[in-house]
Amino acid sequence: MPAEKTVFSSQQIATRVAELAHRINGDYAGRKLLVVGVLTGAFIFTADLVRALDLDLAVDFIQVSSYGRGTSSSGEITLGKDLDYEICNREVLLVEDIIDTGRTLTWLRHHLFARRPASFKVCALLDKRERREVEVEIDYAGFRVERGFLVGYGLDYAGRYRQRPEILELVRTTRQTQE
Ligand code: PRP
Repeated sequence: MPAEKTVFSSQQIATRVAELAHRINGDYAGRKLLVVGVLTGAFIFTADLVRALDLDLAVDFIQVSSYGRGTSSSGEITLGKDLDYEICNREVLLVEDIIDTGRTLTWLRHHLFARRPASFKVCALLDKRERREVEVEIDYAGFRVERGFLVGYGLDYAGRYRQRPEILELVRTTRQTQE
């Protein structure tokens, strides 16, 4: 088992979510919003964020997968679940747990832009720079992190850790590194 190191505590996350929500509340004041969470990783962040938003909003989810992904991404993206709502002429805020290579967000932007939303912005809790392949614009970024394999608060490793309230880095022990 890899060792766990807390990167952001649940209190730090709650504080940052409240700050992001405050900005979003200001930017979208008096407007209707469609919040789109990206499954599965963003389910917890989306739930916390929308509860901090004081706006006229609806929530939808989209699910995409990157083929052959273990702890790294191979790049081919497939759509699992599409949106339930029409987004033409709607203000869309896409909510991601993490932007890593940037490939998923680039794919989603193309996929959703084709439907002509009135506006399209991105809120991502984690902006991880280490493996960025495509430059992407993140309108509301929670934390910028340089590196590390992060889990918890929705993020998984082989399906585990999603329910943990904090964000953890999984660190290989010396013995595991040698194996
Ligand atoms: C994660 C995350 C993003 C994507 C970002 O999802 O939720 O959608 O990776 O990575 P990228 O910038 O390298 O494309 P993942 O594919 O791990 O699926 P999950 O949300 O079901 O855990």
